[in-house]
Amino acid sequence: MDARTTSVLITGGNKGLGFEAARRLGELGWTIFLGSRDEGRGRAAAGKLTAGGANVVMVPLDVTSDESVAGAVRLVKEHTDRLDVLINNAGAPGNVVAPADATADEIHAVYDTNVYGPIRVTHAFLPLLRAAEHPRVVMVSSAVGSFAVVMDPEQPSAKLHELAYSTSKTALNMITVRYAKALPEIKFNCATPGEVANRTYAATDMNNHTGRLTVTEGTDSIVGLATIGPDGPTGIFVDRLGPIAW
Ligand SMILES: NC(=O)c1ccc[n+]([C@@H]2O[C@H](COP(=O)([O-])OP(=O)(O)OC[C@H]3O[C@@H](n4cnc5c(N)ncnc54)[C@H](OP(=O)(O)O)[C@@H]3O)[C@@H](O)[C@H]2O)c1
Repeated sequence: MDARTTSVLITGGNKGLGFEAARRLGELGWTIFLGSRDEGRGRAAAGKLTAGGANVVMVPLDVTSDESVAGAVRLVKEHTDRLDVLINNAGAPGNVVAPADATADEIHAVYDTNVYGPIRVTHAFLPLLRAAEHPRVVMVSSAVGSFAVVMDPEQPSAKLHELAYSTSKTALNMITVRYAKALPEIKFNCATPGEVANRTYAATDMNNHTGRLTVTEGTDSIVGLATIGPDGPTGIFVDRLGPIAW
């Protein structure tokens, strides 16, 4: 890898917002490590970006597996001795089970991807991130993890009765703040793909394409945080319009 090229690893890069972030950062000339838990889907996605001229390495990566994450570190190390940016994008929506019916097993499966996943991946890639001059970690969170949003009766998610997904993103937000405080040499920030003020989100498979924003609009907050400079913020939560309340 060219020593001057910025590198990024994107989990769940094979489709949706992860794929669009990969496409946009690839257009900037960055080296894209495209994480995908399914090798076939990952290869197909990487092939599309490579055909468009991007520099892409497909990385088999299931964020719920320590073994898979360790394999991803080994593969990335074959290409580079540092990682500039990590985007913890992979996410699971869960089954939208009502709180009265939610079981620990149901919650656990969602947390394994949305909470333990970003910790697994961040922890494993810390040495490569620390070797970068200006490392950044972007956590792809959600407005439904925000207390301010869920307590606002005007927000549709105030009426969404479920436990797993929303609380997993709330946990991810605090995890991000904790990392930001403990590791000032790395910038850790949270992005939600929507526009909180306009109650919008991005159309992807996760929401059966009910979102009103495009994936390009949905990735504005993610790309924005991935490309912050050395004087940029750490420990903040933004949507595409700017900082939002926790
Ligand atoms: N769309 C929105 O407006 C919106 C709003 C708020 C937050 N988000 C967040 O944005 C992120 C991306 O979601 P999306 O909307 O782009 O949904 P999506 O199109 O369903 O993409 C989800 C991605 O996560 C991957 N993934 C799921 N479990 C994984 C695992 N265990 N290991 C590795 N990858 C895994 C999926 O891989 P497979 O293809 O193999 O399933 C897929 O690549 C998620 O964290 C989501 O919570 C999205």
